Amino acid sequence: MALRTSSEKEKSDEQHLLPYKDDYGKDEVHTVFAQRKHPSLAVYLLIVLPWLALIVLSGWVGDQYRNRHRASSIFPNLLYSPANDAIRYEKRLFHAGEGDDITQYQGYPSPELDRRWLDLYRCTFITQIIPREMAQKLENKTTIYPYDPQRRYTIQLDVFHQLHCLNLIRKAVSPDYYKPQDPGPDGEDKLLGFHHISHCIDLIRQSLTCHSDVTPLVFQWNEAEQMREPITKIYHTCRDFGAIQEWAKERAVHPNLTYYKEKRIWNDPLDPSTWVGNYHGEK
Ligand SMILES: *[C@@H]1O[C@H](CO)[C@@H](O)[C@H](O)[C@H]1NC(C)=O
Ligand SMILES: *[C@@H]1O[C@H](CO)[C@@H](O)[C@H](O)[C@H]1NC(C)=O
Repeated sequence: MALRTSSEKEKSDEQHLLPYKDDYGKDEVHTVFAQRKHPSLAVYLLIVLPWLALIVLSGWVGDQYRNRHRASSIFPNLLYSPANDAIRYEKRLFHAGEGDDITQYQGYPSPELDRRWLDLYRCTFITQIIPREMAQKLENKTTIYPYDPQRRYTIQLDVFHQLHCLNLIRKAVSPDYYKPQDPGPDGEDKLLGFHHISHCIDLIRQSLTCHSDVTPLVFQWNEAEQMREPITKIYHTCRDFGAIQEWAKERAVHPNLTYYKEKRIWNDPLDPSTWVGNYHGEK
């Protein structure tokens, strides 16, 4: 009974659609084209409307396609990021990171190694600026860049902060080469001291579990060792890091470090706690 009701409903839904098609029946078209002496507005509408409909429809289909593409990506964006549009996915072969398959980010400390690590985030680390329309979509408030006449807003993509942190962990394991040189009030180095490194390790722990890479490692027989071993030189689904880096570089500003302490910016339309005088969020 319930089944029949629902299939009846479907049928009536379809029937509801069919007559709608018939509304554009030939008779009506004929009538209009028959009185062609003075082409009326209706004629133009009849010609233009289907094209308009087609344009609107193709826009809608495009959106649907993009949304589906996004939703089926391995890591859908539940939150807004101004860099969401820069995300591309690609297959990337990981390196084993040992034996003869090491990367250029490994090895003993050297100025060259430092440069390579810094290149991962050098141009992107401190801040990107984004317009207000983007800033107001963020989950948390941010602040206006103090030196920008257009009063754009500052953000930093976390991947670069995380890379900076990982670089400090790398340095912290070579204390003879990277001597702590910036002690805070507690005597600990502000960057390489225990508490900052602990912050960095935990940031990376949160990011790893957040992204939960489910690429399956495989086990293969090693003839020489006569044992089964996990294989890490395999493909992963990755975000195109270069594309994210480009996005960030295009919007980067490189303030001196006084930027952090630069005076507070008042009357930010997105932050009522900065409103002074008679200002109430006007542009
Ligand atoms: C950022 O937003 C989230 C969710 O609204 C909130 O839980 C969190 O406390 C905010 N962070 C700060 C520093 O306000
Ligand atoms: C920092 O940079 C800004 C913008 O270029 C400049 O106005 C300011 O004077 C600089 N501050 C210092 C201490 O160099």
